[in-house]
Amino acid sequence: MDKSKRAAVLAGNWKMNKTPEEAKEILNGLLPALKGADCTVVVCVPYTDLGVAVELCRGSNIHVGAQNVHFKESGAYTGEISPLMLVEAGVEYVIIGHSERRQYFGETDETVNLRAKAALEHGLKPIICVGELLEERENGTTEQVVTRQVKAALADFTAEDMANTIIAYEPVWAIGTGKTATSEQAGEVCGLIRRTVAGLFDAKVADALTIQYGGSMNPKNCDELLAQPDVDGGLIGGAALKVDDFTALVNSASK
Ligand code: 13P
Repeated sequence: MDKSKRAAVLAGNWKMNKTPEEAKEILNGLLPALKGADCTVVVCVPYTDLGVAVELCRGSNIHVGAQNVHFKESGAYTGEISPLMLVEAGVEYVIIGHSERRQYFGETDETVNLRAKAALEHGLKPIICVGELLEERENGTTEQVVTRQVKAALADFTAEDMANTIIAYEPVWAIGTGKTATSEQAGEVCGLIRRTVAGLFDAKVADALTIQYGGSMNPKNCDELLAQPDVDGGLIGGAALKVDDFTALVNSASK
């Protein structure tokens, strides 16, 4: 698999962490440290940090993302944020279908698809998360679950949509647990995702797709994970909140 056909993207998912003041501190550490990065760097911060992040990262090589988006442009959807709002705020990327949203907030394959399509329609780049539960890994249904999630998320996508989409493979049992998938396990499922995309579209679309691994990725295990032919970057939780760790991960993805 020829990795030069696609961009390496290292994205931090800050989850529900950091106030705007705290965000400033991290970003002021990351901006000089990541100046020479040879991969695409994204920070997906809480909504309340977007203003600060966009302002600080303007003109730099750090792109700003959100962690969710609604599929309508406006309306009676208390607590939601629309794609129009994100675009006007200067956001470029948006995480969709993270397992924490699926687990705690009723996100389904169908709403993941609606959100991703709405993001694309407004020029936002979706980072679509898929991944099996521990129980599913143990009962041997990983392939079935991930294939279903990918197909549902990409329903009605065009090849052009795919050029602006990232898929993140995040095995749920590896998120925040310190339990990383082995590089073989990560590589295997990322390969499965690429084959699924090739089946839905064609080899060219699949070859150009950036597929990230996420789940307890850290400076110690990143080289091995990122060396897998089908792993083109990472979606980083805990380690994205530490300037030194995130810098080490970006450097690894830049190799
Ligand atoms: P951790 O890196 O903390 O395991 O989180 C991964 C994740 O969920 C990124 O979206």
